[in-house]
Amino acid sequence: MKLVTGGAGFIGSHLVDGLVAHGEDVVVVDDLSTGNKAFLKGALASKRVRFVKGDCGNAADMKRALRDVDEVWHMAADPDVRAGATKPWSNFRDGAVLTFRVLDAMRRADVSRFVYASSSTVYGEATVRPTPEDYGPLVPISMYGASKLAGEAVVGAFVGTFGMQGWVFRFGNVVGPRLTHGVIFDFHGRLRTDPKRLAILGNGKQDKAYLSTQDCIEGMMHGRARGEQPYNVFNLASDATINVVRIAELVVESMGLRGVRFEFTGGDRGWKGDVPIMALDIEKMRALGWSPRHTSEDAIRLASDSVASARRARPRPGR
Ligand SMILES: NC(=O)c1ccc[n+]([C@@H]2O[C@H](COP(=O)([O-])OP(=O)(O)OC[C@H]3O[C@@H](n4cnc5c(N)ncnc54)[C@H](O)[C@@H]3O)[C@@H](O)[C@H]2O)c1
Repeated sequence: MKLVTGGAGFIGSHLVDGLVAHGEDVVVVDDLSTGNKAFLKGALASKRVRFVKGDCGNAADMKRALRDVDEVWHMAADPDVRAGATKPWSNFRDGAVLTFRVLDAMRRADVSRFVYASSSTVYGEATVRPTPEDYGPLVPISMYGASKLAGEAVVGAFVGTFGMQGWVFRFGNVVGPRLTHGVIFDFHGRLRTDPKRLAILGNGKQDKAYLSTQDCIEGMMHGRARGEQPYNVFNLASDATINVVRIAELVVESMGLRGVRFEFTGGDRGWKGDVPIMALDIEKMRALGWSPRHTSEDAIRLASDSVASARRARPRPGR
C-alpha cells in the first residue's frame, strides 16, 4: 500500500488517481490546509483509498497512516514561493522540516521507499540552461527553494544512514485541472474581477518550463519504476518554455475575452525570490524512456481551459 502525503492537494490528488488506476491501494494523509477532499471523490469511490485527516509532521498521525504501507510519496508542503518573503520560517518548516519528520516516522515504522516532490527552484539562477540534474553549486534564491534543497539533503541523509531508497523529482511549474494557485489561477481571478485589464507582475518576459499534471504523474511513476540507485534525482518538465505574456494571451483566449489591456508592474521578476528564466534538461528521464506528451504551451492551454470550465460550473454568488 502507498501513502501519499498531501494527497488532497492539486498534484497529490492526481497522483492518487494515477496510483489507483495502476491498481494500487492508497492511504492519503492530508491536513486540508490547502487541499480539498472533493478532489478525491473519484478515488474514494473506488474503495481503494483510505483518507486520514492529519498532519504528516505529527508522529501519532503518521503512525496511524503508515499502517500496512510500504512506500511514501511525499507531496505535502507549502507550495507558495512568494510566501517565503513574508513568512520565511513556516515556508521553510513546511518543506524541509516536514520532510525530515515524514522520513523519521518512516524509519520508526520500518518503511524504506520515499518519493519526493522537489522543484526547479533548487537551482536558483542557474547559468547553464536547460539545467541538468548534476548542475552546481545549487544556490536557491527563495526560502521555498532552500526548503526543497534542504529536503533533498535530508532524503540523502536517510538513504545513507538508514538504508532507505529515495526518488527525488525536480518539477518545472505544474499545471492542469484542479489548479488552486499559480499564474493561470491568478490571471483567471483578476480577469473575472476586471475583464478589461490585467495586471502582470514584472515585465512579462519571465520565461519558464511548465509541465502538465498528466506528464508530472506519468513521469514520477516512470522514474520511480526505472530509477534503481539508492538515491535517484530527476528533472521533470516540458522541453519548450513559455513567457508570462504568452500565458496571459492564452488565458484571455480561453476566457473568450477581447481587448484586454496588459499592465506591467515592472522589473525582471514577479516577486522576491522569483527565478525569471528557467529551463530544465530532461535527457536523464528521456534516456529511461519517458518524454512529455505536452509542450509548455499545450499544458497552459489545457489548464486554463479547465479553470475556465470549473469556474463556469461554479458561478460566483449572486450571479
Ligand atoms: N505546483 C507546482 O507547480 C509545483 C512545482 C514544484 C514542486 N511542487 C511541489 O509539489 C507538491 C504538491 O504541490 P501542489 O501544487 O499540489 O500544492 P497543494 O497546496 O495543492 O498541495 C499540498 C497538499 O499538502 C497538504 N498539506 C500541507 N501541509 C500538510 C501537513 N503538514 N500534513 C498533511 N498535509 C499537508 C495540503 O492540504 C495540500 O493538500 C509540493 O511539495 C510542492 O512544493 C509543486
